[in-house]
Amino acid sequence: MIERARRFLAPTYSQFPVVFVRGKGTRLWDAQGREYIDFIGGIGACAVGHCHPAVVDAIQRQAEALLHVSNLYYVEPQIELAELLVQHTFPSKAFFCNSGAEAVEAAIKLARKYAKEKYGAQRYKIITLSGSFHGRTFGALSATGQERFHQGFEPLVPGFTYIPFGDIEAARAAFTPDVAAIMVEVIQGEGGVNFPPPDYLPRLRNLCNERGVLLVLDEIQTGMGRTGALFAYEHYGIKPDILTSAKSLGGGMAIGAMLASPEVADVFGPGSHASTFGGNPLACAAAKATLHVILEDGLLDNCRQAGEFFLEQARLLAKKFSFISDVRGLGLMIGMELDIEAPQVVKQCLELGALTGCAGNRVLRFLPPLLVTEGEVIRVIETLSEVFGKF
Ligand SMILES: Cc1ncc(COP(=O)(O)O)c(C=O)c1O
Repeated sequence: MIERARRFLAPTYSQFPVVFVRGKGTRLWDAQGREYIDFIGGIGACAVGHCHPAVVDAIQRQAEALLHVSNLYYVEPQIELAELLVQHTFPSKAFFCNSGAEAVEAAIKLARKYAKEKYGAQRYKIITLSGSFHGRTFGALSATGQERFHQGFEPLVPGFTYIPFGDIEAARAAFTPDVAAIMVEVIQGEGGVNFPPPDYLPRLRNLCNERGVLLVLDEIQTGMGRTGALFAYEHYGIKPDILTSAKSLGGGMAIGAMLASPEVADVFGPGSHASTFGGNPLACAAAKATLHVILEDGLLDNCRQAGEFFLEQARLLAKKFSFISDVRGLGLMIGMELDIEAPQVVKQCLELGALTGCAGNRVLRFLPPLLVTEGEVIRVIETLSEVFGKF
């Protein structure tokens, strides 16, 4: 299989030599039948674990009833999913698409259209933060505040400005009259599990209100229960104007969503934005089932408790290995900063049967399913300890 992959797949991913064929909960099995524990969870896309029975059941039922019609017609799962998301977030309306990057594209287009209609054509700029990651399509890539992702693809889409991460004065200075929106991750994921100062988001919210700038929160990685709240903005007592979601939203199915306050969403008139498969019945049925599992099966509580336990254990590990320079996290979004090469650690953990991830070269990243047990946390901590012992 690996030989065939090398011949027939474009080499966009640096892949480990393992072929997975089955998953259940926190576990995966490869083609040789070897079991692994998954602490990177599809890079944050598997909040409810692999093949959750409620999600599989919803997909099976929906697949038998209706797979696809176009958005020229209404379909029940899409309407129900929108209602459920709005009930559990903020007064808003939803646009559905198929991935995180597409949700970001929708947010960028909507922010520009709203600002131009409300304030005039000169108001179109989007501010984002250094170290941010918003996706690989051209708008989302241009929004991404990390040069290494831009290289080879310039010129980028004009109208994006990057400001230093977590610096409210930089935001104040950047909010000139041509600024339509600022887009931020509540906690930066790909950038290294980075937390802004605790008062950053509330202050940014106030600044946005003062200047009429839209606050777009990219919760593609932090959302769907990852931090112990359904969306991470809840920890900061604020609400966004626009929110993007994807990854765990579909419980393993491809779906993205953009929510926007009704006043903003309503500038997207018919024909202004669209997606053939966006909001298709199958993905929406999976997402509805996923949301119910997260909200009703105690996953948020478990995420908080297991996350605390993981942080405690990781901090004990940091006392033992001096090259662990920092441990940080919220819920089950956890980063461990190392003075050694994180990708080497990930590789060796995999050899011992544990999937972990990294964000750049120095940060180990853990995004396990929200249903992990303390025993499973200990298993991964022991694996890390064994690997660290060899450095
Ligand atoms: C914060 C954030 N935004 C956007 C994206 C892009 O999502 P996708 O890969 O589904 O396009 C990601 C993916 O890692 C992400 O973490």
